Amino acid sequence: MLSEGTVTTTVTRSEEVQAREQRHVLQTYRRQPVVFVRGEGVRLYDAEGREYLDLLSGIGVAALGHAHPALVRAISEQAGTLMHTSNLFFHPLQGQLAERLAGLSGLPRAFFCNSGAEAVEACLKFARRYWYTRGEPRTEIVALEGSFHGRTIGALSVTSDEHYRTPFAPLLSGVTWTPLNDPAALAAAVTNRTAAIIAEPIQGEGGIHPLTPAFAAAIGEASARTGALVIADEIQCGLGRTGYPFYFAALGMKPHLVSLGKALGGGVPIGAALISEEVASTIAYGDHGSTYGGNLLACRAALCVLDELVGRGLIAQIARVGRLFDERLGAMAARHSIVKEVRGCGLMWGIELSCDAAPVVPAALERGVIVNRTAERVVRLLPPLVITEDDAALALDRLDQALGAVAQDGGPRG
Ligand SMILES: Cc1ncc(COP(=O)(O)O)c(C=O)c1O
Repeated sequence: MLSEGTVTTTVTRSEEVQAREQRHVLQTYRRQPVVFVRGEGVRLYDAEGREYLDLLSGIGVAALGHAHPALVRAISEQAGTLMHTSNLFFHPLQGQLAERLAGLSGLPRAFFCNSGAEAVEACLKFARRYWYTRGEPRTEIVALEGSFHGRTIGALSVTSDEHYRTPFAPLLSGVTWTPLNDPAALAAAVTNRTAAIIAEPIQGEGGIHPLTPAFAAAIGEASARTGALVIADEIQCGLGRTGYPFYFAALGMKPHLVSLGKALGGGVPIGAALISEEVASTIAYGDHGSTYGGNLLACRAALCVLDELVGRGLIAQIARVGRLFDERLGAMAARHSIVKEVRGCGLMWGIELSCDAAPVVPAALERGVIVNRTAERVVRLLPPLVITEDDAALALDRLDQALGAVAQDGGPRG
């Protein structure tokens, strides 16, 4: 139970929270009208004490769920020991984390930052630096339609959604767009001027679209033909979410650069660019940096997430619970005519509707389950990686009811 006076627990307080934000927080987010104050495992509790099953994990961040005892212990202990010293000095954790990520990914070096967009920026800069060092300063990038790589100018330049891009033009020049899963178009787009090809192995914001193995192979062939580097953005699909440590490996891709974020710190902000030796050998002292990047607190959190993920066999559990999602979502698709297609694997799923998916979010909240809409018509599920089969079944029952209610209220609106 919460101690009195420390957390808002009444309806009035919840309204106060929202009113204060309306007055003072920059209005860049259209939030659902719910104030979460506490979490435990896959459950969140709002200011009125209502319980919700979380099928979103803060958009793929709370990998170990909420208030995971090992993570709480690790970051409390680290906060009480040493949190930050800057990158001017050594500390014991950054090298350990880089070593663990190297073992998981096969990419021997890591650069640490604080968010996904920063990890993408780092990859784009390292790609330019590689070509600059080789005396052939290529700057062109091939990116995919439907991609999302973040909101900073570089990351936005390789993000396809015009709605996000247009107000901030001009962005970086030299980006060529190619349709998803069209090997011939990709082959035509990549030339001897291409510095890098950037792709999410499973597009997340774009609506949960996995690359096909044939398309992944075409990326490898284009890279071999032209020398273009390959950047795999694993920020949303990486770190076990799909039932594989990284989905690029499941597709047989061999990226030179990999961007990580979201789940890496389990809620403590940390991003990373993983780098092949070939690219890393072209980077010099002072080329890139970040004040907070890879501080002790963030590294300790990430080491704890990796301990749970790898050390305690979470990846095998994800694959198992993923099969339940596959079956249950397939059955839902058969039952509800508004469901057009279900895509994904492991604990990363998109339910594409034949109508706007926005009404599903409040309908699900009303029934005590948290989901999100992306790409207009897609209900996105990114549950905590620790979700059990029992909780998954309960949450999916509620989502099933929410879909039924939306179908009854409005049905497909074309
Ligand atoms: C694939 C991918 N890349 C990059 C980003 C940007 O990450 P951040 O919001 O941490 O900057 C996201 C965020 O949703 C993402 O899904």
